[in-house]
Amino acid sequence: MIKGKPFLTVEQIQTRVKELAESISSDYEGKEILAVGILKGAFMFFADIVRYVQVPMDIDFLIVSSYVRTQSSGEMKIHADLRENVSGRHVLLIEDIVDTGLTLNYLKNMILKRNPASLKICTFLDKKPRRKVDIHIDYAGYEVPDKYLVGYGLDYENKFRNLPYIAVFKEIT
Ligand code: PRP
Repeated sequence: MIKGKPFLTVEQIQTRVKELAESISSDYEGKEILAVGILKGAFMFFADIVRYVQVPMDIDFLIVSSYVRTQSSGEMKIHADLRENVSGRHVLLIEDIVDTGLTLNYLKNMILKRNPASLKICTFLDKKPRRKVDIHIDYAGYEVPDKYLVGYGLDYENKFRNLPYIAVFKEIT
């Protein structure tokens, strides 16, 4: 079923994950992070990056989907909210991909209302050509073109999330 060359190999992914973790460790030195994975897509990147970050952290998750999302409001369905209180804490949102930016824009506003000490965004993939809202990204693994990517957490109809590399969908089916 899987054929063709990966868009990003396991080695490229792991190298970049470690570089991002080094930047995060340096920027947050002396602080404690509340790392928040945005599920489902971020599960693999989240699990990879947290093990290389060298500052203390708590972890938590948001499970969200875009099925009630409209282009005008960017409203999301929150399937599971955070268990942690974010007030006064250094929150780092961790995503697999920023596409239109609507998901992170919505979540960022939601978290900011809860008064964190700081809020930063880390995404493994940044698909800038598709952006609909202007959102500042603090840490990005790779900028990618407007191709349908799967693997490393990214899905097509919930499949392919478990691939350890990233592929262009039409090249693997
Ligand atoms: C995907 C991805 C991001 C979002 C990015 O999630 O994981 O959360 O889309 O797109 P955007 O920038 O256009 O908002 P999706 O809602 O498909 O759910 P999933 O994480 O369960 O795959």
